[in-house]
Amino acid sequence: MDLKEKYGEWGIVLGATEGVGEAFCKKLAEGGMNIVMVGRREELMREKAEKFKAEYGVDYKVVRADLSQPDDACDKIFAATEGLDMGFMSYVACLHHFGRFQDVDLATHEQCLNVNVISFLRIFHHYMKDFAAKDRGAVINVSSMTGISGSPFNGEYGAGKAYILKLTEAVAYETKKTGVDVEAITLGTTLTPTAMKNFPKGPAGDAVVKIALTPDQVADEAFEKLGHEMSIIAGERNKASVHDWKANHTEDEYISYMGAFYEN
Ligand SMILES: NC(=O)c1ccc[n+]([C@@H]2O[C@H](COP(=O)([O-])OP(=O)(O)OC[C@H]3O[C@@H](n4cnc5c(N)ncnc54)[C@H](OP(=O)(O)O)[C@@H]3O)[C@@H](O)[C@H]2O)c1
Repeated sequence: MDLKEKYGEWGIVLGATEGVGEAFCKKLAEGGMNIVMVGRREELMREKAEKFKAEYGVDYKVVRADLSQPDDACDKIFAATEGLDMGFMSYVACLHHFGRFQDVDLATHEQCLNVNVISFLRIFHHYMKDFAAKDRGAVINVSSMTGISGSPFNGEYGAGKAYILKLTEAVAYETKKTGVDVEAITLGTTLTPTAMKNFPKGPAGDAVVKIALTPDQVADEAFEKLGHEMSIIAGERNKASVHDWKANHTEDEYISYMGAFYEN
């Protein structure tokens, strides 16, 4: 799809350094859009941006910003994109911390809240205002199946992903009859560098890897359905799993399943 023609000159990906964010940047470049990459590892982003530039002839900006510091991050991001013809945004970055809710200190919870909720809210609102004013643009925000089930021992993260999912779905409906396409994509296990560091070793880890999606598969589905669906679950296996849980089990059973998963 010619994304530049449809949505505008520039797209921004929050959490662009690797994994799903990097795959989204590649999609933007393939679609002719210039890319604003946001993350903390500036050199790595620049290396990847240079490759997109060489391969697809697109321009880029790299913004080193820590989304756990919403004031500073938003200042840098909004300054870097001021005056650009922005046409796409995607919020990919996340932060989680494992432990029983009350055992994790409040400052850590607040840091997760900053990345998963506060920075997300401010950035989504900022670009939506711009896109709505022009009646042109697109958004893909990334959630998680933990946002559907709840996520015991990782509760703050699941709650944050639920916030992203529900807010994005609501805005997707509000903009349905306009020139702005908004989509939430809910991921199950995905082979990102961060996730792969945390997979269990041995047969259990191998089993997870076998059924997980790659970031490119996620990006393919996300962009294919952009403008057609408001909320998608990535991959047939994940879709079937969520539909089965919703149709055949109680909320308590779903929460208990997730709890047992992280407890063991
Ligand atoms: N991987 C999975 O199995 C899985 C499952 C369900 C849902 N998801 C969702 O998929 C998305 C990507 O997951 P992931 O595993 O790839 O996540 P990740 O590796 O933790 O983060 C993705 C990107 O965000 C950037 N980032 C992280 N924290 C940041 C911060 N404080 N400020 C600025 N940038 C930050 C990272 O780059 P820098 O380190 O350079 O900042 C990285 O490029 C998330 O929304 C996650 O909730 C993933």
